[in-house]
Amino acid sequence: MWQYKVMHRVLVIDDEESIRELLKDFLESKGLEVVTAPDGRTGLSLLKEDKFDIFLLDIMMPGMSGLDVLREAAAEKIDVPSVVITAHATVQTAVEAMKLGAFDYITKPFNLEEFYIAVKRALDVSKLQEENIRLKRELKRKFSSKKIIGNSVEIQNVIKFIEKIADTDSTLLITGESGTGKELVAKTIHYNSSRARKPFVPLNCAAIPKDILESELFGHEKGAFTGAVTTRIGRFELANNGTLFLDEIGELAPSLQVKLLRVLQEREFERVGGIKTIKVDVRIIAATNRDLEKAVEEGTFREDLYYRLNVIPLHLPPLRKMKEDIPLLVEHFITEISKRKQKKPPKISPEAMECLMNYRWPGNVRELENLIERLIILSDGDVTTYEDLPERFHDKSRMVPRTFPLKGEKLSAEGIDLNTMLDEIENNMIVQALELSKGIKSKAAGLLGLNRTTLIEKLKKKSIDFNVHRAKQ
Ligand SMILES: Nc1ncnc2c1ncn2[C@@H]1O[C@H](COP(=O)(O)OP(=O)(O)OP(=O)(O)O)[C@@H](O)[C@H]1O
Ligand SMILES: [Mg+2]
Repeated sequence: MWQYKVMHRVLVIDDEESIRELLKDFLESKGLEVVTAPDGRTGLSLLKEDKFDIFLLDIMMPGMSGLDVLREAAAEKIDVPSVVITAHATVQTAVEAMKLGAFDYITKPFNLEEFYIAVKRALDVSKLQEENIRLKRELKRKFSSKKIIGNSVEIQNVIKFIEKIADTDSTLLITGESGTGKELVAKTIHYNSSRARKPFVPLNCAAIPKDILESELFGHEKGAFTGAVTTRIGRFELANNGTLFLDEIGELAPSLQVKLLRVLQEREFERVGGIKTIKVDVRIIAATNRDLEKAVEEGTFREDLYYRLNVIPLHLPPLRKMKEDIPLLVEHFITEISKRKQKKPPKISPEAMECLMNYRWPGNVRELENLIERLIILSDGDVTTYEDLPERFHDKSRMVPRTFPLKGEKLSAEGIDLNTMLDEIENNMIVQALELSKGIKSKAAGLLGLNRTTLIEKLKKKSIDFNVHRAKQ
Protein backbone atom coordinates (compact mmCIF):
# COMPACT_ATOMS: atom_id res chain seq x y z
CA MET A 1 0.00 0.00 0.00
CA TRP A 2 1.34 3.43 -0.85
CA GLN A 3 0.84 5.65 2.13
CA TYR A 4 0.70 9.37 1.83
CA LYS A 5 -1.98 11.93 1.51
CA VAL A 6 -1.98 14.14 -1.53
CA MET A 7 -2.07 17.75 -0.35
CA HIS A 8 -5.29 19.72 -0.20
CA ARG A 9 -5.51 22.26 -2.96
CA VAL A 10 -6.76 25.76 -2.35
CA LEU A 11 -7.53 28.43 -4.93
CA VAL A 12 -7.16 32.04 -3.80
CA ILE A 13 -9.00 34.63 -5.94
CA ASP A 14 -8.07 38.17 -4.98
CA ASP A 15 -7.14 41.21 -7.05
CA GLU A 16 -4.65 42.50 -4.47
CA GLU A 17 -1.27 40.95 -4.97
CA SER A 18 -0.12 41.51 -1.37
CA ILE A 19 -3.14 39.61 -0.03
CA ARG A 20 -2.62 36.77 -2.51
CA GLU A 21 1.01 36.44 -1.48
CA LEU A 22 0.20 36.65 2.21
CA LEU A 23 -2.47 33.96 2.02
CA LYS A 24 -0.35 31.76 -0.22
CA ASP A 25 2.64 31.87 2.14
CA PHE A 26 0.49 31.34 5.17
CA LEU A 27 -1.51 28.41 3.75
CA GLU A 28 1.59 26.78 2.29
CA SER A 29 3.18 26.96 5.73
CA LYS A 30 0.18 24.92 6.89
CA GLY A 31 0.94 22.25 4.32
CA LEU A 32 -1.70 23.20 1.76
CA GLU A 33 -1.11 23.59 -1.94
CA VAL A 34 -2.11 27.03 -3.16
CA VAL A 35 -2.93 28.32 -6.63
CA THR A 36 -3.78 32.01 -7.02
CA ALA A 37 -5.85 34.02 -9.49
CA PRO A 38 -5.76 37.82 -9.81
CA ASP A 39 -9.35 38.23 -10.99
CA GLY A 40 -12.74 36.57 -11.01
CA ARG A 41 -12.66 35.42 -14.62
CA THR A 42 -9.31 33.62 -14.25
CA GLY A 43 -10.46 32.13 -10.96
CA LEU A 44 -13.62 30.80 -12.50
CA SER A 45 -11.86 29.16 -15.42
CA LEU A 46 -9.43 27.51 -12.99
CA LEU A 47 -12.37 26.19 -11.00
CA LYS A 48 -13.87 24.75 -14.17
CA GLU A 49 -10.69 23.17 -15.45
CA ASP A 50 -8.96 21.87 -12.41
CA LYS A 51 -9.64 20.18 -9.11
CA PHE A 52 -9.62 22.19 -5.88
CA ASP A 53 -10.79 21.28 -2.41
CA ILE A 54 -11.89 24.82 -1.55
CA PHE A 55 -11.55 28.37 -2.86
CA LEU A 56 -11.11 31.71 -1.13
CA LEU A 57 -12.75 34.64 -2.79
CA ASP A 58 -12.51 38.38 -2.47
CA ILE A 59 -15.87 40.09 -2.94
CA MET A 60 -14.77 43.51 -4.11
CA MET A 61 -12.86 43.04 -7.32
CA PRO A 62 -12.84 45.16 -10.46
CA GLY A 63 -14.56 43.51 -13.42
CA MET A 64 -16.14 40.32 -12.24
CA SER A 65 -17.03 40.64 -8.55
CA GLY A 66 -16.87 37.81 -6.03
CA LEU A 67 -20.66 37.56 -6.08
CA ASP A 68 -20.56 37.19 -9.87
CA VAL A 69 -18.05 34.37 -9.48
CA LEU A 70 -20.32 32.61 -7.00
CA ARG A 71 -23.31 33.06 -9.27
CA GLU A 72 -21.53 31.61 -12.28
CA ALA A 73 -19.96 28.83 -10.25
CA ALA A 74 -23.46 27.83 -9.11
CA ALA A 75 -24.75 27.97 -12.67
CA GLU A 76 -21.87 25.76 -13.79
CA LYS A 77 -22.62 23.35 -10.94
CA ILE A 78 -19.16 23.78 -9.45
CA ASP A 79 -19.69 22.64 -5.90
CA VAL A 80 -16.36 23.50 -4.35
CA PRO A 81 -16.85 25.05 -0.89
CA SER A 82 -15.77 28.69 -0.70
CA VAL A 83 -14.82 31.18 1.96
CA VAL A 84 -15.62 34.76 1.05
CA ILE A 85 -13.33 37.60 2.11
CA THR A 86 -14.73 41.06 2.32
CA ALA A 87 -13.55 44.37 3.64
CA HIS A 88 -17.01 45.82 3.39
CA ALA A 89 -18.60 43.78 6.04
CA THR A 90 -22.14 44.67 5.46
CA VAL A 91 -24.32 41.85 6.60
CA GLN A 92 -26.06 42.07 3.27
CA THR A 93 -23.15 41.04 1.02
CA ALA A 94 -22.30 38.22 3.39
CA VAL A 95 -25.89 36.98 3.34
CA GLU A 96 -26.00 37.27 -0.41
CA ALA A 97 -22.75 35.34 -0.74
CA MET A 98 -24.05 32.58 1.50
CA LYS A 99 -27.28 32.44 -0.49
CA LEU A 100 -25.21 32.00 -3.62
CA GLY A 101 -23.59 29.01 -2.01
CA ALA A 102 -20.54 30.39 -0.16
CA PHE A 103 -19.73 28.20 2.79
CA ASP A 104 -18.42 30.90 5.13
CA TYR A 105 -17.24 34.50 5.16
CA ILE A 106 -14.57 36.46 6.91
CA THR A 107 -14.04 40.19 7.17
CA LYS A 108 -10.87 42.16 6.43
CA PRO A 109 -8.70 42.86 8.35
CA PHE A 110 -8.55 39.39 9.78
CA ASN A 111 -6.44 37.44 12.16
CA LEU A 112 -4.67 34.65 10.27
CA GLU A 113 -5.37 31.95 12.83
CA GLU A 114 -9.04 32.85 12.83
CA PHE A 115 -8.97 32.73 9.05
CA TYR A 116 -7.35 29.32 9.18
CA ILE A 117 -10.20 27.96 11.30
CA ALA A 118 -12.64 28.96 8.54
CA VAL A 119 -10.39 27.34 5.93
CA LYS A 120 -10.19 24.11 7.88
CA ARG A 121 -13.95 23.96 8.35
CA ALA A 122 -14.43 24.45 4.62
CA LEU A 123 -11.88 21.71 3.92
CA ASP A 124 -13.77 19.32 6.21
CA VAL A 125 -16.98 20.06 4.32
CA SER A 126 -15.18 19.55 1.04
CA LYS A 127 -14.02 16.14 2.17
CA LEU A 128 -17.54 15.18 3.23
CA GLN A 129 -18.98 16.47 -0.02
CA GLU A 130 -16.50 14.51 -2.04
CA GLU A 131 -17.28 11.37 -0.08
CA ASN A 132 -20.97 11.99 -0.60
CA ILE A 133 -20.68 12.54 -4.32
CA ARG A 134 -18.63 9.39 -4.63
CA LEU A 135 -21.11 7.37 -2.62
CA LYS A 136 -23.97 8.56 -4.77
CA ARG A 137 -22.03 7.90 -7.92
CA GLU A 138 -21.12 4.48 -6.68
CA LEU A 139 -24.73 3.64 -5.86
CA LYS A 140 -25.77 4.77 -9.29
CA ARG A 141 -23.04 2.69 -10.84
CA LYS A 142 -23.98 -0.33 -8.80
CA PHE A 143 -27.50 -0.28 -10.13
CA SER A 144 -26.59 0.59 -13.67
CA SER A 145 -23.34 -1.32 -13.50
CA LYS A 146 -22.67 -3.53 -16.43
CA LYS A 147 -22.37 -7.13 -15.51
CA ILE A 148 -19.96 -9.64 -16.89
CA ILE A 149 -22.21 -12.09 -18.69
CA GLY A 150 -21.33 -15.67 -19.52
CA ASN A 151 -21.73 -19.25 -18.37
CA SER A 152 -18.80 -20.71 -20.27
CA VAL A 153 -15.92 -22.17 -18.29
CA GLU A 154 -13.75 -19.36 -19.68
CA ILE A 155 -15.92 -16.52 -18.40
CA GLN A 156 -16.73 -18.27 -15.14
CA ASN A 157 -12.99 -18.63 -14.56
CA VAL A 158 -12.52 -14.92 -15.18
CA ILE A 159 -15.28 -14.11 -12.69
CA LYS A 160 -13.85 -16.45 -10.05
CA PHE A 161 -10.44 -14.96 -10.59
CA ILE A 162 -11.74 -11.40 -10.24
CA GLU A 163 -13.40 -12.31 -6.96
CA LYS A 164 -10.08 -13.61 -5.66
CA ILE A 165 -7.88 -10.72 -6.65
CA ALA A 166 -10.22 -7.71 -6.57
CA ASP A 167 -9.55 -6.72 -3.02
CA THR A 168 -5.77 -6.77 -3.15
CA ASP A 169 -3.52 -3.89 -4.05
CA SER A 170 -1.61 -5.85 -6.66
CA THR A 171 -0.92 -4.45 -10.09
CA LEU A 172 -2.73 -6.24 -12.89
CA LEU A 173 -2.10 -6.66 -16.57
CA ILE A 174 -5.23 -7.50 -18.53
CA THR A 175 -4.63 -8.86 -22.00
CA GLY A 176 -7.07 -9.85 -24.69
CA GLU A 177 -8.17 -8.99 -28.19
CA SER A 178 -10.03 -5.80 -28.91
CA GLY A 179 -13.56 -5.76 -27.50
CA THR A 180 -13.15 -8.68 -25.12
CA GLY A 181 -14.14 -6.64 -22.06
CA LYS A 182 -10.81 -5.44 -20.65
CA GLU A 183 -12.20 -2.14 -19.44
CA LEU A 184 -15.34 -3.78 -18.10
CA VAL A 185 -13.19 -6.21 -16.10
CA ALA A 186 -10.94 -3.41 -14.82
CA LYS A 187 -13.97 -1.49 -13.56
CA THR A 188 -15.49 -4.59 -12.01
CA ILE A 189 -12.25 -5.19 -10.13
CA HIS A 190 -12.17 -1.61 -8.87
CA TYR A 191 -15.79 -1.58 -7.74
CA ASN A 192 -15.30 -4.87 -5.94
CA SER A 193 -12.26 -3.65 -4.05
CA SER A 194 -11.99 -1.60 -0.90
CA ARG A 195 -11.06 1.30 -3.16
CA ALA A 196 -14.58 1.28 -4.61
CA ARG A 197 -15.51 4.57 -3.00
CA LYS A 198 -12.45 6.28 -4.41
CA PRO A 199 -11.97 7.23 -8.04
CA PHE A 200 -11.53 4.88 -10.98
CA VAL A 201 -9.49 6.94 -13.41
CA PRO A 202 -9.01 5.61 -16.96
CA LEU A 203 -6.32 6.83 -19.31
CA ASN A 204 -5.97 5.57 -22.85
CA CYS A 205 -2.26 5.76 -23.63
CA ALA A 206 -2.91 5.43 -27.38
CA ALA A 207 -5.53 8.18 -27.60
CA ILE A 208 -3.42 11.00 -26.18
CA PRO A 209 -0.58 12.60 -28.17
CA LYS A 210 2.82 11.60 -26.85
CA ASP A 211 3.90 15.09 -25.86
CA ILE A 212 0.91 15.73 -23.61
CA LEU A 213 0.66 12.25 -22.18
CA GLU A 214 3.33 12.93 -19.59
CA SER A 215 1.51 15.92 -18.19
CA GLU A 216 -1.78 13.99 -18.33
CA LEU A 217 -0.21 11.31 -16.18
CA PHE A 218 1.77 13.39 -13.74
CA GLY A 219 0.33 16.90 -14.04
CA HIS A 220 2.41 20.00 -14.59
CA GLU A 221 3.49 23.15 -12.83
CA LYS A 222 2.62 26.57 -14.08
CA GLY A 223 5.15 27.62 -16.73
CA ALA A 224 6.49 24.08 -17.25
CA PHE A 225 6.07 24.52 -21.00
CA THR A 226 4.46 26.97 -23.41
CA GLY A 227 0.79 26.84 -22.79
CA ALA A 228 1.10 25.64 -19.18
CA VAL A 229 -0.48 28.79 -17.82
CA THR A 230 -1.63 27.15 -14.61
CA THR A 231 -0.64 24.28 -12.38
CA ARG A 232 -2.64 21.14 -13.12
CA ILE A 233 -2.78 17.81 -11.42
CA GLY A 234 -2.44 14.63 -13.44
CA ARG A 235 -4.30 11.32 -13.47
CA PHE A 236 -2.03 9.80 -10.86
CA GLU A 237 -3.08 12.44 -8.34
CA LEU A 238 -6.72 12.25 -9.41
CA ALA A 239 -6.66 8.52 -8.79
CA ASN A 240 -5.24 8.88 -5.30
CA ASN A 241 -6.58 6.11 -3.04
CA GLY A 242 -8.35 4.66 -6.05
CA THR A 243 -7.44 2.83 -9.24
CA LEU A 244 -5.65 4.10 -12.33
CA PHE A 245 -6.57 2.19 -15.47
CA LEU A 246 -3.81 2.49 -18.07
CA ASP A 247 -5.40 1.29 -21.28
CA GLU A 248 -3.36 0.35 -24.37
CA ILE A 249 -0.21 0.32 -22.28
CA GLY A 250 1.67 -1.28 -25.18
CA GLU A 251 1.56 2.08 -26.98
CA LEU A 252 3.48 3.93 -24.28
CA ALA A 253 6.56 5.73 -25.62
CA PRO A 254 9.95 4.55 -24.28
CA SER A 255 10.61 7.81 -22.40
CA LEU A 256 7.32 7.44 -20.55
CA GLN A 257 7.95 3.76 -19.90
CA VAL A 258 10.97 4.82 -17.82
CA LYS A 259 8.92 7.36 -15.90
CA LEU A 260 6.09 4.93 -15.24
CA LEU A 261 8.58 2.34 -14.06
CA ARG A 262 9.92 4.78 -11.51
CA VAL A 263 6.43 5.49 -10.14
CA LEU A 264 5.78 1.79 -9.84
CA GLN A 265 9.07 1.22 -8.07
CA GLU A 266 9.28 4.23 -5.84
CA ARG A 267 5.65 5.19 -5.50
CA GLU A 268 6.46 8.82 -6.15
CA PHE A 269 6.86 11.32 -8.97
CA GLU A 270 7.13 15.01 -9.77
CA ARG A 271 4.76 17.06 -11.86
CA VAL A 272 6.23 18.14 -15.21
CA GLY A 273 8.41 21.16 -14.46
CA GLY A 274 8.06 20.59 -10.74
CA ILE A 275 10.59 19.82 -8.04
CA LYS A 276 8.22 18.74 -5.29
CA THR A 277 8.01 14.97 -4.93
CA ILE A 278 4.44 13.73 -4.78
CA LYS A 279 3.52 10.41 -3.26
CA VAL A 280 0.28 8.72 -4.07
CA ASP A 281 -1.58 5.58 -3.11
CA VAL A 282 -2.82 4.22 -6.42
CA ARG A 283 -3.60 0.75 -7.67
CA ILE A 284 -2.59 0.22 -11.26
CA ILE A 285 -4.51 -1.88 -13.73
CA ALA A 286 -2.97 -1.92 -17.19
CA ALA A 287 -4.48 -3.39 -20.35
CA THR A 288 -3.31 -4.15 -23.83
CA ASN A 289 -4.40 -6.03 -26.93
CA ARG A 290 -0.78 -6.35 -28.00
CA ASP A 291 1.50 -9.22 -27.22
CA LEU A 292 3.72 -7.45 -24.69
CA GLU A 293 6.02 -10.41 -24.27
CA LYS A 294 6.78 -10.17 -27.97
CA ALA A 295 7.20 -6.40 -27.71
CA VAL A 296 9.76 -7.04 -24.97
CA GLU A 297 11.60 -9.49 -27.20
CA GLU A 298 11.55 -6.98 -30.02
CA GLY A 299 12.86 -4.28 -27.71
CA THR A 300 9.90 -1.91 -28.00
CA PHE A 301 8.67 -2.48 -24.45
CA ARG A 302 10.92 -2.42 -21.39
CA GLU A 303 11.30 -5.78 -19.77
CA ASP A 304 11.56 -4.36 -16.23
CA LEU A 305 8.31 -2.44 -16.73
CA TYR A 306 6.64 -5.53 -18.15
CA TYR A 307 7.43 -7.49 -15.00
CA ARG A 308 6.29 -4.64 -12.76
CA LEU A 309 2.94 -4.55 -14.54
CA ASN A 310 2.48 -8.24 -15.03
CA VAL A 311 2.29 -9.01 -11.30
CA ILE A 312 -1.13 -10.56 -11.85
CA PRO A 313 -1.78 -11.48 -15.48
CA LEU A 314 -5.37 -11.85 -16.61
CA HIS A 315 -6.15 -12.96 -20.12
CA LEU A 316 -9.62 -12.48 -21.56
CA PRO A 317 -10.67 -15.09 -24.10
CA PRO A 318 -11.98 -14.11 -27.52
CA LEU A 319 -15.69 -14.52 -28.12
CA ARG A 320 -15.22 -17.28 -30.70
CA LYS A 321 -13.96 -19.46 -27.85
CA MET A 322 -17.11 -18.91 -25.79
CA LYS A 323 -19.78 -19.78 -28.28
CA GLU A 324 -22.21 -21.07 -25.71
CA ASP A 325 -22.28 -17.55 -24.23
CA ILE A 326 -23.42 -15.95 -27.46
CA PRO A 327 -27.19 -16.53 -26.97
CA LEU A 328 -26.86 -15.18 -23.41
CA LEU A 329 -25.01 -12.09 -24.58
CA VAL A 330 -27.48 -11.55 -27.42
CA GLU A 331 -30.38 -11.67 -24.98
CA HIS A 332 -28.56 -9.41 -22.53
CA PHE A 333 -27.83 -6.75 -25.13
CA ILE A 334 -31.33 -6.97 -26.64
CA THR A 335 -32.87 -6.27 -23.23
CA GLU A 336 -30.41 -3.52 -22.33
CA ILE A 337 -30.34 -1.66 -25.61
CA SER A 338 -34.04 -1.82 -26.41
CA LYS A 339 -34.75 -0.43 -22.94
CA ARG A 340 -32.26 2.36 -23.49
CA LYS A 341 -33.56 3.16 -26.96
CA GLN A 342 -37.19 2.60 -25.95
CA LYS A 343 -37.70 0.16 -28.77
CA LYS A 344 -39.56 -3.11 -28.89
CA PRO A 345 -37.03 -5.92 -28.38
CA PRO A 346 -36.68 -8.01 -31.56
CA LYS A 347 -36.60 -11.79 -31.62
CA ILE A 348 -33.78 -13.65 -33.30
CA SER A 349 -34.72 -16.59 -35.49
CA PRO A 350 -33.01 -19.91 -34.61
CA GLU A 351 -31.25 -19.86 -37.94
CA ALA A 352 -29.90 -16.36 -37.38
CA MET A 353 -28.79 -17.32 -33.87
CA GLU A 354 -26.93 -20.32 -35.19
CA CYS A 355 -25.14 -18.05 -37.62
CA LEU A 356 -24.19 -15.67 -34.79
CA MET A 357 -22.79 -18.61 -32.86
CA ASN A 358 -20.68 -19.72 -35.79
CA TYR A 359 -19.33 -16.31 -36.71
CA ARG A 360 -15.70 -15.65 -35.93
CA TRP A 361 -16.27 -12.25 -34.18
CA PRO A 362 -13.00 -10.43 -34.85
CA GLY A 363 -14.35 -7.46 -32.83
CA ASN A 364 -15.52 -9.75 -30.01
CA VAL A 365 -18.24 -8.64 -27.57
CA ARG A 366 -18.11 -5.04 -28.74
CA GLU A 367 -18.89 -6.16 -32.30
CA LEU A 368 -21.79 -8.23 -30.99
CA GLU A 369 -23.08 -5.30 -28.96
CA ASN A 370 -22.92 -3.01 -31.99
CA LEU A 371 -24.67 -5.56 -34.18
CA ILE A 372 -27.54 -5.89 -31.70
CA GLU A 373 -27.89 -2.13 -31.55
CA ARG A 374 -28.13 -2.01 -35.33
CA LEU A 375 -30.68 -4.84 -35.40
CA ILE A 376 -32.81 -3.11 -32.77
CA ILE A 377 -32.86 0.11 -34.75
CA LEU A 378 -33.71 -1.67 -38.00
CA SER A 379 -36.14 -4.36 -36.86
CA ASP A 380 -38.57 -2.47 -34.66
CA GLY A 381 -39.63 -5.55 -32.79
CA ASP A 382 -39.91 -7.98 -35.71
CA VAL A 383 -38.20 -11.32 -35.89
CA THR A 384 -34.64 -10.97 -37.16
CA THR A 385 -33.88 -13.69 -39.67
CA TYR A 386 -30.66 -14.92 -41.19
CA GLU A 387 -31.31 -12.69 -44.23
CA ASP A 388 -31.60 -9.62 -42.00
CA LEU A 389 -28.03 -10.03 -40.76
CA PRO A 390 -25.39 -7.83 -42.42
CA GLU A 391 -23.47 -9.13 -45.41
CA ARG A 392 -20.43 -10.39 -43.51
CA PHE A 393 -22.55 -12.95 -41.64
CA HIS A 394 -23.34 -14.63 -44.95
CA ASP A 395 -19.69 -15.19 -45.73
CA LYS A 396 -18.71 -18.78 -45.00
CA SER A 397 -15.04 -17.94 -44.67
CA ARG A 398 -15.85 -15.84 -41.62
CA MET A 399 -17.36 -18.71 -39.70
CA VAL A 400 -15.88 -21.16 -37.24
CA PRO A 401 -17.54 -24.52 -36.70
CA ARG A 402 -19.89 -24.52 -33.75
CA THR A 403 -19.12 -27.97 -32.45
CA PHE A 404 -16.14 -30.10 -33.10
CA PRO A 405 -16.91 -33.34 -34.86
CA LEU A 406 -16.76 -36.35 -32.62
CA LYS A 407 -15.33 -39.66 -33.64
CA GLY A 408 -17.13 -40.94 -36.69
CA GLU A 409 -18.60 -37.57 -37.65
CA LYS A 410 -18.12 -36.57 -41.26
CA LEU A 411 -16.26 -33.51 -42.45
CA SER A 412 -18.85 -31.35 -44.21
CA ALA A 413 -18.38 -29.60 -47.54
CA GLU A 414 -18.01 -26.27 -45.69
CA GLY A 415 -14.79 -27.46 -44.14
CA ILE A 416 -13.51 -26.75 -40.65
CA ASP A 417 -10.88 -24.73 -38.84
CA LEU A 418 -8.74 -27.50 -37.46
CA ASN A 419 -6.51 -25.37 -35.24
CA THR A 420 -9.36 -23.64 -33.45
CA MET A 421 -11.07 -26.95 -33.03
CA LEU A 422 -8.04 -28.67 -31.54
CA ASP A 423 -7.39 -25.69 -29.33
CA GLU A 424 -10.92 -25.85 -28.03
CA ILE A 425 -10.65 -29.53 -27.21
CA GLU A 426 -7.34 -28.98 -25.47
CA ASN A 427 -8.55 -26.06 -23.37
CA ASN A 428 -11.64 -27.89 -22.36
CA MET A 429 -9.75 -31.00 -21.27
CA ILE A 430 -7.07 -29.06 -19.37
CA VAL A 431 -9.62 -27.05 -17.43
CA GLN A 432 -11.51 -30.20 -16.55
CA ALA A 433 -8.32 -31.98 -15.47
CA LEU A 434 -7.30 -29.05 -13.27
CA GLU A 435 -10.72 -29.00 -11.68
CA LEU A 436 -10.72 -32.72 -11.02
CA SER A 437 -7.26 -32.51 -9.49
CA LYS A 438 -8.08 -29.35 -7.51
CA GLY A 439 -5.35 -27.43 -9.23
CA ILE A 440 -2.55 -29.87 -8.45
CA LYS A 441 -0.64 -29.82 -11.67
CA SER A 442 1.17 -33.12 -11.44
CA LYS A 443 -2.18 -34.85 -10.91
CA ALA A 444 -3.82 -32.95 -13.76
CA ALA A 445 -0.91 -33.84 -16.02
CA GLY A 446 -1.39 -37.50 -15.06
CA LEU A 447 -5.06 -37.34 -16.00
CA LEU A 448 -4.12 -36.03 -19.42
CA GLY A 449 -1.26 -38.41 -20.02
CA LEU A 450 1.19 -35.50 -20.16
CA ASN A 451 4.24 -34.87 -18.08
CA ARG A 452 4.11 -31.98 -15.64
CA THR A 453 6.42 -29.65 -17.55
CA THR A 454 4.47 -30.06 -20.78
CA LEU A 455 1.28 -29.14 -18.94
CA ILE A 456 2.97 -26.11 -17.37
CA GLU A 457 4.17 -25.00 -20.80
CA LYS A 458 0.62 -25.23 -22.12
CA LEU A 459 -0.76 -23.38 -19.09
CA LYS A 460 1.66 -20.55 -19.66
CA LYS A 461 0.18 -20.05 -23.10
CA LYS A 462 -3.36 -20.17 -21.73
CA SER A 463 -2.76 -17.75 -18.91
CA ILE A 464 -6.31 -17.41 -17.66
CA ASP A 465 -6.76 -21.01 -16.63
CA PHE A 466 -3.33 -21.02 -15.15
CA ASN A 467 -4.20 -18.00 -13.03
CA VAL A 468 -7.33 -19.44 -11.59
CA HIS A 469 -5.70 -22.62 -10.57
CA ARG A 470 -2.55 -20.96 -9.37
CA ALA A 471 -4.65 -18.68 -7.18
CA LYS A 472 -6.27 -21.74 -5.64
CA GLN A 473 -3.01 -23.29 -4.53
N1 LIG B 1 -18.64 -10.72 -20.76
C1 LIG B 1 -19.29 -9.59 -21.03
N2 LIG B 1 -20.56 -9.38 -20.60
C2 LIG B 1 -21.23 -8.27 -20.89
N3 LIG B 1 -20.74 -7.25 -21.60
C3 LIG B 1 -19.47 -7.37 -22.06
C4 LIG B 1 -18.69 -8.53 -21.80
N4 LIG B 1 -17.48 -8.37 -22.37
C5 LIG B 1 -17.51 -7.17 -22.96
N5 LIG B 1 -18.70 -6.55 -22.79
C6 LIG B 1 -19.11 -5.25 -23.33
O1 LIG B 1 -18.51 -5.12 -24.60
C7 LIG B 1 -18.04 -3.80 -24.82
C8 LIG B 1 -16.56 -3.80 -25.06
O2 LIG B 1 -15.89 -4.07 -23.85
P1 LIG B 1 -14.59 -3.27 -23.36
O3 LIG B 1 -14.66 -1.85 -23.79
O4 LIG B 1 -14.41 -3.54 -21.91
O5 LIG B 1 -13.51 -4.05 -24.23
P2 LIG B 1 -11.95 -3.82 -24.37
O6 LIG B 1 -11.32 -5.14 -24.24
O7 LIG B 1 -11.51 -2.74 -23.45
O8 LIG B 1 -11.83 -3.37 -25.89
P3 LIG B 1 -10.68 -2.50 -26.64
O9 LIG B 1 -9.44 -3.33 -26.65
O10 LIG B 1 -11.27 -2.33 -28.00
O11 LIG B 1 -10.55 -1.24 -25.87
C9 LIG B 1 -18.45 -3.00 -23.58
O12 LIG B 1 -19.68 -2.36 -23.82
C10 LIG B 1 -18.59 -4.06 -22.52
O13 LIG B 1 -19.48 -3.69 -21.52
MG1 LIG C 1 -10.69 -0.83 -23.91
